[in-house]
Amino acid sequence: MLPRKPNDASSISAAEWIASVHAARDFVHAQRLLQPQIALVLGSGLGELADAIVHATFIPYEQIPGFSPTHAHGHAGQLVLGYLSGVPIVALRGRSHRYEGYSSHHVQFPIHCCHALGARALITTNAAGGLNTRFQSGDLMILDSHIDQLWPRRSTAPPVSAHPLNSTCGRPLSPYDPHWIDLAKQLARQEDIVLHQGCYLATLGPTYETRGEYRMFRSFGADAVGMSTIPEVLAAAQLQMRVLAFSVITNVASTEQPQETSHDEVVETGQAAGPALRRLISRILEDLSGQPD
Ligand code: HPA
Repeated sequence: MLPRKPNDASSISAAEWIASVHAARDFVHAQRLLQPQIALVLGSGLGELADAIVHATFIPYEQIPGFSPTHAHGHAGQLVLGYLSGVPIVALRGRSHRYEGYSSHHVQFPIHCCHALGARALITTNAAGGLNTRFQSGDLMILDSHIDQLWPRRSTAPPVSAHPLNSTCGRPLSPYDPHWIDLAKQLARQEDIVLHQGCYLATLGPTYETRGEYRMFRSFGADAVGMSTIPEVLAAAQLQMRVLAFSVITNVASTEQPQETSHDEVVETGQAAGPALRRLISRILEDLSGQPD
């Protein structure tokens, strides 16, 4: 079984990993709910998107074998099964983070569980600080690339296959689906929603950045900075799931004036941008199902 304690999953064997994923899947299956097609991760302040899920069943992470509780404010820690725009989905309402002391395998575990339940695509969301000078607080960004700064240990995939993402030297191709990105941009235009496209950089956190760090990350070519998402995107790509990822820009990094970012501000702005993101995700799912909401 996947050890419950943070940071001790790195030596797990492939057989133990698969057994842990199947135990979580069997627990959820035993409740005789639907088979999801899409997995949805709801990040900081975005958990209210789960309110749009119909015929929803909420399962606290604590009850699911192998799931790690999340301690971050704004993360409810529930797996939700139900329908969004007529599509059966599994939503992860809140995530655990590397800064909570979890290994990347722990953070990736729920994605493997969603895949084992039947989900073949991942839509993931996060709150992020805007580095691109065109960005404003409350804007949305769709990820087309990322920079993994989740040091001291990079986000590796669990030991389940010889897929290139598992190798120590292989460079992943972009996990972000270009057709889905185009569709999201087209639907955002129709809905009059500001949707930027850009590169997300993940740091370990848990503190927000200094002005110098914001400046450095901007010079790296990043458009937004956060503390999550990359491990789960890599897990989904390893499982050959289609991936789409959104950042809500909850604060804009000022490299000129000292400015403090608070987690409350991040959660509040995430909540304020929630309805636009909800509309956009609903439209994307409608397109998949061919049904109006
Ligand atoms: N930095 C890192 N993570 C974040 C930020 C930020 O400015 N805003 C929201 N998540």
